[in-house]
This record gives sequence, structure tokens and C-alpha cells, in this order.
Amino acid sequence: MRIACCLNSDATEWRDALRAALPGASVETWARDASPSEYAIVWRPPQEFFDTQPRLKAIFNAGAGVDALLNLRLPDGVPLVRLEDAGMAEQMADYVVHAVLRHVREFDVYESQARGGVWKPRAPRRKADFPIGVLGFGVLGEYVARSLQTMGFPVHAWTRTPKDAIGLRVFTGDAGLEDFLAATRVLVCLLPLTGETRGIVNRRTLALLRPEAYIVNVARGGHVVESDLIEALKEGRLAGAALDVFEQEPLPSGHPLWDQPGIAVTPHISAATLREESVEQIARKILAMERGDPISGVVDLRRGY
Ligand code: NAP
Ligand code: GLV
Repeated sequence: MRIACCLNSDATEWRDALRAALPGASVETWARDASPSEYAIVWRPPQEFFDTQPRLKAIFNAGAGVDALLNLRLPDGVPLVRLEDAGMAEQMADYVVHAVLRHVREFDVYESQARGGVWKPRAPRRKADFPIGVLGFGVLGEYVARSLQTMGFPVHAWTRTPKDAIGLRVFTGDAGLEDFLAATRVLVCLLPLTGETRGIVNRRTLALLRPEAYIVNVARGGHVVESDLIEALKEGRLAGAALDVFEQEPLPSGHPLWDQPGIAVTPHISAATLREESVEQIARKILAMERGDPISGVVDLRRGY
């Protein structure tokens, strides 16, 4: 079995880890003149990679989101498999819990007070006054929603298809979106970026949130209409936002989000791909495919995630 690694960084480390996990396989980093492979491990590959791979049985994306890959011409009929958690859910929960607590407990205010030598306690705030709405209740969204719930926050979620979730209200589809937003003061985005979800956080949806809402975007920059977010902040309709992802990455210098008061910027680090966990998951799925067993995490190309 031949496996090609085509990743934009650390490809040799992935090759070595896959060789260790699948001793019977021939694993190589991709080269233009290499023999075709049965399995591909990719992160942001060039189109040329797929154009030179006529024998693929499966493509494994070294990340959860496949939006960038779906802009390429993929070989017909070859399953595209994404990472499922592989150590990302816990990182994502850490990030979101931190962002939410920083806002609710006003640690951002205390940080700036401390820089000015100001000792000034503020009135306590109740978690009950900060209902959290999580857009997306998939592998990462559910873990994050449950973590926030464990912290004592009221939490609800929004999905495309109806879900039964114990102790948590799940709103569904276009029909459920307005009620979901009206119940939300802290909005966490954990949707995949698709034709349906692009620009979902916009002037109209921001206006439907509870007053002084706070946004946490850890999914894709394309979910948020950045100019609408800045406008809502300037008009005082939003309390702030923690943004890990942006329409253009790296966020260009001079971009208004860099120095917008109330905005916390991080460089797409909320949940990094962990090589060890990812290779273990991918190797397990390759072995299952070789046995003819079904695997999970196969992307539905029509719905885009
Ligand atoms: P997932 O398991 O596929 O979950 C996606 C969720 O979004 C599902 O609940 C799905 O609803 C819902 N959804 C999709 N389209 C929808 C629509 N049109 N309307 C309403 N709900 C919709 O994905 P995941 O593993 O949790 O990952 C989510 C995203 O996180 C990834 O796609 C990626 O973009 C992002 N991510 C970011 C980072 C980072 O470092 N910033 C790291 C990892 C992942 P159903 O349940 O009804 O299908
Ligand atoms: C990272 O952004 C991912 O989709 O895994």
C-alpha cells in the first residue's frame, strides 16, 4: 500500500509517524514524479497533487474543516475523510471557555485597569445573564457546548438537522435561527464553512442577538461579515468579540480588527492539528478500509461538510 503525504508543513514528520503506525505501508512525502498512491494525507495541497494521483482510494484531510479542499477539483468517487476531534475538541473547549470567562468576568477590563495602576472592583455578574448559543453541534460544537454547560452557563445550540440532546435545547435550520439568536447573548461559531453558512454572522443576525452580545468565532473567517461586526461594535450594539479566524489570514497589518476596542485577535490557534492523535486516527481508518470495514468522518460533498 502506498501513502502520499502532501502537507504544507511538517510533511516529513507526518511521513515518519505514518511509517511507524503502518509498518507494512510505503509512505512518502509527495514529489511530482512519484508513483501514484492509494491513500493521500493532505493539508492545503496544490491542485497538481490530485491531478497526478489517479489511483486514490481515499483522501485524508489533516484538519476538521474541508472548505479549502472543496475549492479544488477532487478525483471523482474518492472519499474525502476529515479529522474527527483527534485532540481538537479539548483545545477548542479551553479556548472558548477562556474567551467567555474573560468577557463575563471582565478580565479584559481588569488587565487594562492594572496597566494604569487602578485598583477598582466591579459589580459581580451572573452566568445566568449570559446565555450562550453555539452555532453547530457537531464533534467540536457539542464538546464545547457541554464544557460551557459544566461551567454553569445556560447553553443552547443550532444545527441543520434536528437533534435530541439531554438538558440542552437545539434549534434547527432557518426556521429555528431567529429564536436561537433571540435567546443568545454570547454567540460561539463552530460551523463548517459552506455555501449555506458563509456570512451567517452579519448585520441582520447580529441585530437579533440579546443586547451587549459577545461573539466568539473559532470556525472560519468567512462566517463573519467583518465590516458588519465592526459597525455593530462602533454603534455599541455588541460588547466585543474573540476572533481566531479571519476572511484573510494572516490578518493583514493595518486591518481595522487589529486595534478595534473590544476585539481579541488570535492567529488561528484555537484547535491545532495534533500529529500523534491524527496519525493514530488516520492509520486506524486506513486499516479499516483495507479490511473493507466502514469508516466515519467521510465528508458529504453535496452538503459541504
Ligand atoms: P462537524 O462535526 O461536521 O459539525 C458541524 C455542525 O455544524 C453540525 O452540528 C451541523 O449540523 C452544523 N451545520 C452545518 N451546516 C449547517 C447549516 N447550514 N445550518 C445549521 N447547522 C449547520 O464539524 P466539527 O468537527 O465540529 O468542526 C466544525 C468546524 O470547526 C470545522 O468545519 C472547521 O471549519 C472549524 N475548526 C476550526 C479550527 C480552528 O483552529 N479555528 C479547528 C478545527 C475546526 P448537523 O448536526 O445537523 O449536521
Ligand atoms: C483547522 O482549522 C481545522 O479545520 O482543523
